[in-house]
Amino acid sequence: MSDSKIAKEVSNRRTFAIISHPDAGKTTITEKVLLFGQAIQKAGTVKGKKSGQHAKSDWMEMEKERGISVTTSVMQFPYGGRLVNLLDTPGHADFSEDTYRTLTAVDSCLMVIDAAKGVEERTIKLMEVTRLRDTPILTFMNKLDRDTRDPVELMDEVEDVLKIACAPVTWPIGMGKSFKGVYHLLRDEVVLYRTGQGHTIQDTQVIAGLDNPELDKVLGGYAAELRDEIDLVKGASNEFDHELFMAGELTPVFFGTALGNFGVDHMLDGLVEWAPSPLPRETDTRTVQPTEDGFSGFVFKIQANMDPQHRDRVAFMRIVSGKYQQGMKARHVRIGKEVRFSDALTFMAGDREHADEAFAGDIIGLHNHGTIQLGDTFTSGESMKFTGIPNFAPELFRRIRLKDPLKTKQLQKGLIQLSEEGAVQLFRPLRNNDLIVGAVGVLQFDVVVARLKSEYKVDAVYEPINVATARWVTSDDPRKLDEFERKANDNLALDGGDRLAYIAPTMVNLQLAQERHPDILFHKTREH
Ligand code: G4P
Repeated sequence: MSDSKIAKEVSNRRTFAIISHPDAGKTTITEKVLLFGQAIQKAGTVKGKKSGQHAKSDWMEMEKERGISVTTSVMQFPYGGRLVNLLDTPGHADFSEDTYRTLTAVDSCLMVIDAAKGVEERTIKLMEVTRLRDTPILTFMNKLDRDTRDPVELMDEVEDVLKIACAPVTWPIGMGKSFKGVYHLLRDEVVLYRTGQGHTIQDTQVIAGLDNPELDKVLGGYAAELRDEIDLVKGASNEFDHELFMAGELTPVFFGTALGNFGVDHMLDGLVEWAPSPLPRETDTRTVQPTEDGFSGFVFKIQANMDPQHRDRVAFMRIVSGKYQQGMKARHVRIGKEVRFSDALTFMAGDREHADEAFAGDIIGLHNHGTIQLGDTFTSGESMKFTGIPNFAPELFRRIRLKDPLKTKQLQKGLIQLSEEGAVQLFRPLRNNDLIVGAVGVLQFDVVVARLKSEYKVDAVYEPINVATARWVTSDDPRKLDEFERKANDNLALDGGDRLAYIAPTMVNLQLAQERHPDILFHKTREH
């Protein structure tokens, strides 16, 4: 394959994820985005709470019962001549770790804000994560068909709280019952809104030019008001600046209603035009460019039993460079072996199907029989490891205990595998045989017990344990580490991958340990 073919495929791709607070409209936007991508005939199958249908990503009973999206799925669709990969991030607050890692596999993010509520807590946290890599952010102010807050106030809040400059690309005309549409500042067009068109791609009425007398006919007295308002907005707000956008310092802002399928296409137009094509990624030895010939990629998510009939585990790999081809061989760097990708999955149109080829920015799913871990790197042969795929120090801890003590082996095996997937974190104290499960969100505990039962046939229960926090520990000086292991033995544990961690009963205890052992590094995240 010629370099120019790879370069063309790469420049054609956009890989993004949606970040939002629960209920802001992520699922609804995803449906509409897929509708535009023609990936599904009729939007409404992503979650379909009302119709009783469930999205293809809904694989666990628990998820169905709770009506939340526990899993991360991948959807690929064409839009505006480009190929777009949308990585779904679990919106539920409890599943933050998966969400964080998914954000390492995208090149841009869409931030969805409920315009009646403004910036909410979960959005703030997720924005902090995107900051780690200065990911470019687009913003969609949703639910304009309802009474919302004042748009100027909303943008001020984004700027103040999230510390990112806002550049309105569209501007709402009215809101709630009197929502009339938007003015597109860059195209100088008024796009009129009609209600009840949410399930189809509607024909929109567009009026070219703010000075167009047609506007007075349609909007009546409001047209003059709109002209004044736009004057003010232009004077008072930032203009879109591509460089600042790419640096994650400025976000283009779109207004609309996902439910009414209005404004989503403006956002998508912006995404394919401005968002970066697949970006280079860092490894421990060098920076890898997406257009390189050599194949490389990293695993950011492992998911079990997507298809309960096959009981398979799938490792999601983001391709960083080169080309994936059905049946190709690649080096599994961590274990130093060559493996064949014989039946990788791709995610075109939200469905799992066999793919013949894929390029940088695409996600492929590898069947995993226990040899693949989060963060694993695959290459054409080069020994390198992608960095920046974090594990977060858990904030919640429980001791896990078997109902039937004869199944200890099974329990350990299950917990180690679930921790490899990142479903939960496991800590085994050095001083006893406890099994301590650590999670970032409380729902993870339920998921683990449910999966231990269905996949490993063990019945486990939790008991409270006095652990407040954990830190992975390392030191540049092996002697100091040895000494620390002796002195702090009571507080030390091995995690699922046999890495040393300090488990602290209180934050004060942690602080004291840090002060007492200045040569020991206490890490809040563990890079795989
Ligand atoms: P999430 O994935 O971010 O959690 O949000 P989701 O899309 O599920 O939307 C949350 C609720 O907000 C849903 O209503 C959805 O219909 C509604 N919604 C989304 N976009 C808009 C919009 O533009 N305008 C209005 N008025 N509502 C919107 P629900 O009643 O909780 O769920 P459902 O029973 O309709 O599925």
